[in-house]
Amino acid sequence: MKNLKLDIELLKDHVSQKDLKDLQSSVTSVNKSIYDKTCAGNDFLGWVDLPDNVSQKEVVDIKNIAKEINDNADHVICIGIGGSYLGARATIDFLSNPLTTNNKVLYLGHNLSADYMNDLIAFIQNKQCYVNVISKSGTTTEPGVAFRVLVNALKAGLSKDEFSKRVIATTDQSKGALRKMADAEGFRSFVIPDDVGGRFSVLTPVGLLPIAAAGFDIDALLAGAKDAAAFCKNTQDVLGNPVLTYAAARYLLYKSGKTIEVLSAFDPSLQYVGEWWKQLYGESEGKDGKGIFPASTVFTTDLHSMGQYIQDGKRNLFETFLTIENMRTKIAVPKVEENLDGMNFLAGMDLSDVNHQAYRGTALAHAAGNVPNMNISLADRTEYTLGQLFYFFEFAVAVSGLLLKINPFDQPGVEAYKQNMFALLGKPGFEDRRKELLGQS
Ligand code: PA5
Repeated sequence: MKNLKLDIELLKDHVSQKDLKDLQSSVTSVNKSIYDKTCAGNDFLGWVDLPDNVSQKEVVDIKNIAKEINDNADHVICIGIGGSYLGARATIDFLSNPLTTNNKVLYLGHNLSADYMNDLIAFIQNKQCYVNVISKSGTTTEPGVAFRVLVNALKAGLSKDEFSKRVIATTDQSKGALRKMADAEGFRSFVIPDDVGGRFSVLTPVGLLPIAAAGFDIDALLAGAKDAAAFCKNTQDVLGNPVLTYAAARYLLYKSGKTIEVLSAFDPSLQYVGEWWKQLYGESEGKDGKGIFPASTVFTTDLHSMGQYIQDGKRNLFETFLTIENMRTKIAVPKVEENLDGMNFLAGMDLSDVNHQAYRGTALAHAAGNVPNMNISLADRTEYTLGQLFYFFEFAVAVSGLLLKINPFDQPGVEAYKQNMFALLGKPGFEDRRKELLGQS
């Protein structure tokens, strides 16, 4: 795949080329079941061809609204949680300069913190804001509450028409409270396709509108994903397609008792890609008493904290590194005559070369410590490369989930806490559950 390379050399003591080849027939049948739509969860396969199916009209509409936001507002507040939040955040953080914080986009509705909400409301006082409220079901509590509060804060001083103009809803075509509200209040809206689940929705308006509003190139993001999709369709050989190699290797590692995967990124810009990946992998695979537990770290920062456990703790881990080949800038370590800190051995080296040797040293140390690891190397920090990476991870989790014989596209487990929360909060219809829960405490 053009801008991504997978290196599995340090898996060799745990997963051999032969092991991977032996899995070819299972992978082939899983692949076939995805493309001919016969796999478990086959009503949620819209993401497979999504990069080809996003209409040019929709892209133009998104860009026009992004421009309107940029011309008229200081911020757009994106309200959403889980799949309706993490893809946009991962992209914007990956592409932004963290110090001149790209805060055109602000986030709300991804927690229930009173202080977070009040801080955001205080921050937007006297600023011009648009709101993009994003919820596929249209009934999720966190974004629902956030939208109510924000409506009160923003309505003051605006005519009904002016207020309605500033709210963009991204939701289901016909179902859910948000769709009803959008139609009743005259909000402009974008549709989340029925067959694309929340965690697979970054390349729908869910992700594309906030990303475009933040000033990033959604055409290039889609082009990266489109090329990755074409590559996957044309290369179904486990060893020739890094997506399938990764999926098959994870499955074999899991079968050998490695039940935790740590995604360790060697650049802070990838922190929220790790958060997005954890949702995608945790919700897709963790069910029926099975699945790899996804964890994430950012190195070298976390080598000084989690590094101890990974090197030396319980041996049920494997690791996937994310590295970036070409950073946007270079910075050489200066030479200092006195060399009081003893660091002249690094003088003249580019910081990325130091980081690369930190990666190599870590990978070798962890492999020697019985943590098999592989590396996905990204060519650069661009929209195109990230589009490839999103598709890489989406396709791989579908394959590894189906190899595990689970439905990677549902999330029945997230309902349990919601039912309890509704019962404890006194939502009508949950009276019996409430009695049951109060009896337990
Ligand atoms: O992947 C999923 O389906 C979930 O994580 C959802 O994205 C999350 O619960 C938010 O749901 P909604 O978009 O319906 O508000």
